Amino acid sequence: MDTILLPADENSVKQAAELLRAGQVVAFPTETVYGLGADGLNAQAVAAIFAAKERPADNPLIVHVAERSQLDGLCYVTKAAEALMDAFWPGPLTLLLMKTKSVPNITTAFLPSVAVRCPSHPVARALLRACALPIAAPSANRSGRPSPTTAQDVLEDMQGRIPFILDGGACDVGVESTVLDLTGEVPCILRPGAVTAKDVASVAGACTVAASVMRPLKEGESAPSPGMRHRHYAPKAKMTVYLGSDEEVAKAIIARYDAAENAAILAHGSAQPLFGDRRVFSLGDTPQEGAHLLFRRLREMDALGVSLILAQGWNAEGEALAVMNRMARAAAFDLVNV
Ligand code: TXA
Ligand code: MG
Repeated sequence: MDTILLPADENSVKQAAELLRAGQVVAFPTETVYGLGADGLNAQAVAAIFAAKERPADNPLIVHVAERSQLDGLCYVTKAAEALMDAFWPGPLTLLLMKTKSVPNITTAFLPSVAVRCPSHPVARALLRACALPIAAPSANRSGRPSPTTAQDVLEDMQGRIPFILDGGACDVGVESTVLDLTGEVPCILRPGAVTAKDVASVAGACTVAASVMRPLKEGESAPSPGMRHRHYAPKAKMTVYLGSDEEVAKAIIARYDAAENAAILAHGSAQPLFGDRRVFSLGDTPQEGAHLLFRRLREMDALGVSLILAQGWNAEGEALAVMNRMARAAAFDLVNV
């Protein structure tokens, strides 16, 4: 299969929407990461997403809509959900709600709930409006690879596997949406993103964060979100994340770097001068900049054949939870406090 990549404009969006209406798979930009979309109510079209990604069938997809009214008949929208949609939609917040029979089981991996999201990216919105379908879309990476934040990243993983990629430039947020479970008594974050627990609590009154967000699942423990069972966000290199002051972190990283072969450093902008002429990549100076850059840097280092990544993290709380959740998983939870 040839894969066409076109800059997003009125014509290419129309072309992409026609492919979606014909049951095909199309990659498109969102404000978080690129998505791999197909008609969420068409089981065959959804099966093609799983095939292109080589995604395990037990990992459910998020259904994307342009307007709230598209949820009618798909899921049961609670009062809390309505308030959260008022506050954060369109935007990087995915809500888990109980589904109806209209959503095929393949889309939700046979779960009784469905994940729904209304993205804010203008190209995603134009595409969703043009096709007028609820679009199931996971991140557009091959399973296990870092999520794509540019159309080039998507091409790297999906060339020959899907017919069409819409190029809308680099994604703003850089990590995937917050996944919030609204099926229990208190809203619970299963995957942290740009919308934080504090943001949710300010609207819903309370919000918890699943314990497995910052630690590996214990043996026999069931994952609140199936995605957490699977190896995720993995670069090819082995990775360790260090926490502490710039100086202490730099000391620990340099000792390890100098003893290793083919290592690279991923550090805050402020710490970069501490590493001299060693191979160092910037994560920016704030957790938001880190989130924006992380997956891009992991892909760059993979392309260079780096075999050891020594990274500087942030304390895993508040706005840093989203980027640290991905860094911890990329490092298989090899975190060091210095
Ligand atoms: O920002 C995003 O959310 C991006 C863009 C494309 O919208 N999409 C995305 O999809 O990250 P994906 O499939 O890579 O991640 C969806 C996550 C997975 O961890 C999945 O297990 C979880 O959401 N999820 C989806 N439906 C669920 C459900 N019914 N119950 C529990 N977890 C669910
Ligand atoms: Mg994903």
